[in-house]
Amino acid sequence: MFHVKTLNHISPACREILTPDRYTISEEMEKPDAIFVRATNMLNYEFNPELLCIARAGIGVNSIPLDRCTEEGIAVFNSPGANANGVKELFVFGLSMASRDLLGAVNWVYHYHNDGVPVEVAMEKIKKQFSGPEYAGKILGVVGTGNVGSLTANIALDLGMTVYAYDPYLSVDAAWKVSRDVKRVADFGALLRSCDYLTLHVPLTDETRDMVDDDAIACMKDNVRIINYARGEVINEDALIRGLESGKIARYVTDFPTDRLIRTKNVVATPHLGGTTIESEANCAVMAAREMDDYLCTGNIKNSVNLPTLVQERSGMARLCIIHRNVPNMLASITSALSATDVNVENLTNKSRGNYAYTVVDVNTLVDHDVIQKIRSIGGILRVRALNH
Ligand SMILES: NC(=O)c1ccc[n+]([C@@H]2O[C@H](COP(=O)([O-])OP(=O)(O)OC[C@H]3O[C@@H](n4cnc5c(N)ncnc54)[C@H](O)[C@@H]3O)[C@@H](O)[C@H]2O)c1
Repeated sequence: MFHVKTLNHISPACREILTPDRYTISEEMEKPDAIFVRATNMLNYEFNPELLCIARAGIGVNSIPLDRCTEEGIAVFNSPGANANGVKELFVFGLSMASRDLLGAVNWVYHYHNDGVPVEVAMEKIKKQFSGPEYAGKILGVVGTGNVGSLTANIALDLGMTVYAYDPYLSVDAAWKVSRDVKRVADFGALLRSCDYLTLHVPLTDETRDMVDDDAIACMKDNVRIINYARGEVINEDALIRGLESGKIARYVTDFPTDRLIRTKNVVATPHLGGTTIESEANCAVMAAREMDDYLCTGNIKNSVNLPTLVQERSGMARLCIIHRNVPNMLASITSALSATDVNVENLTNKSRGNYAYTVVDVNTLVDHDVIQKIRSIGGILRVRALNH
């Protein structure tokens, strides 16, 4: 039986995966084997030593202390792509909001005081001030063409835009999802110089933080319209506000309001709604629950953000799941520890990711505490777990 602590509401669809015969699920739990999280900030969270994994229903993991998790042998999973359609649909709204002053227009209607002139008469005189360009026929620059960026690039083509994309790290799988009519640009500056609209779909990393700064904004066309449904910090806020106040940036549409931004003209902000659709929330939760279930029950890792992908068919009588540092001689040390305790290896897979690695060993006997202790005592081992079949 595994114990799962939920930090946020868990979609009922997950209960079909995390079934009561194998899982207890509760918001209050002192020693969980797994944590299920959607939006809670875990940066200062203290992990219990039994914790094996954290599954995040969503893509961004900047609210989880990944380095600390890996050091403590905790696998962290997210749900890539599961909310991409929700963000794409919000992007279509964002394009319209970036083009015309629809927010101002709606506010005007709802704040209109009829002092003798009915709204339907007054509006015909005022409406011109909410006008703006159509986006069809304009150039959209897409930064990051992963799960969300590829969908936004493709729909923008359908909406009649010319689409340029910049993504120096695009995986082969992700590249297949981008229409061949999207023009790839190798240089970020070249992308910024060409587009009328810019949309950001990169993760927040040390490299992408402030990637749009004063220099980047200076390269852009006058009256550029920027949509940011990635993370607020990918744009330097001081530079952004300078760009908006000078009129260089015609409008900024974002899912990440701050107290300063909502007081700045030409900002349209939603409260982190990108993945907030009924379907996205269920998709993310189900994907995260599957990854958690797979890891807890089989040791296989898919869509981890801190450990390598590793899937091995089950064989033998037991499986050892070992998280360790990526250092020389580790496999030899593990296999010698096993042969010293008369455990025969049926199958072994080892994958690394940066400074860390994961090894799965299927063996032909049941594994007892002594075997686990022997492996645990090898320098550089962060976590050993045995699954007796
Ligand atoms: N507003 C929301 O509710 C919401 C919902 C989903 C995702 N997001 C944000 O959007 C981001 C993207 O989501 P996704 O599902 O498409 O992620 P993804 O991992 O599928 O795609 C990210 C893409 O960015 C590219 N990239 C990384 N660094 C880059 C750089 N320096 N320059 C250009 N491209 C770079 C990667 O190669 C990848 O193709 C997430 O990290 C998350 O922060 C927000």
